[in-house]
Amino acid sequence: MSDAFQVLKIDHEAITTVLRRLSAGPGGARQRLAERLIIEVTKHETVEEEFFWPAVREHVSGGGAPADEATAQEQHVKSALQELDGLSAGDPRFEEPLSGLIGEIRAHLTFEETRVWPPLRRALTGTQAAELGTALMKGKSLAPTHPDPGIAPEPGILKASGAMTAAADRLKDAATGRGRD
Ligand SMILES: [Fe+2]
Ligand SMILES: [Fe+2]
Repeated sequence: MSDAFQVLKIDHEAITTVLRRLSAGPGGARQRLAERLIIEVTKHETVEEEFFWPAVREHVSGGGAPADEATAQEQHVKSALQELDGLSAGDPRFEEPLSGLIGEIRAHLTFEETRVWPPLRRALTGTQAAELGTALMKGKSLAPTHPDPGIAPEPGILKASGAMTAAADRLKDAATGRGRD
């Protein structure tokens, strides 16, 4: 069974791979890559908001400050992703926000891995880390795939409107082939 840090690491690696391919420059399947980025980041940040940041706030002494900082970064990333969502790769509005976003997301992942994971790892028991990992994995299967920065980054989203939004997103994605390689 995967613990929270393994689950998060797999997500971060998947996101980093898409960022690397996107930063290789124009051409290729850029629009598909941008769609993949939007889907992966939206699901990942949704489950962090639902389960990860509450765990940081609860278990890490002084964890509120890095949690606030990181969720502010996430809200900013979601706004930028929302602007990108649905744009074609040929659109003049596509490349510029994308290049800023690549650096912003990389910095966010590094912030979590270096500033947040180490103290949480020390604070959680093995059982707690495993339970958090299970919650994150289950949550991902329910998470929306379109960013909505208008929703406050607080727990409860996934259980309430998030699950409905996710179902609608997934139906739409299936109909359009969005996110398929
Ligand atoms: Fe995050
Ligand atoms: Fe993360």
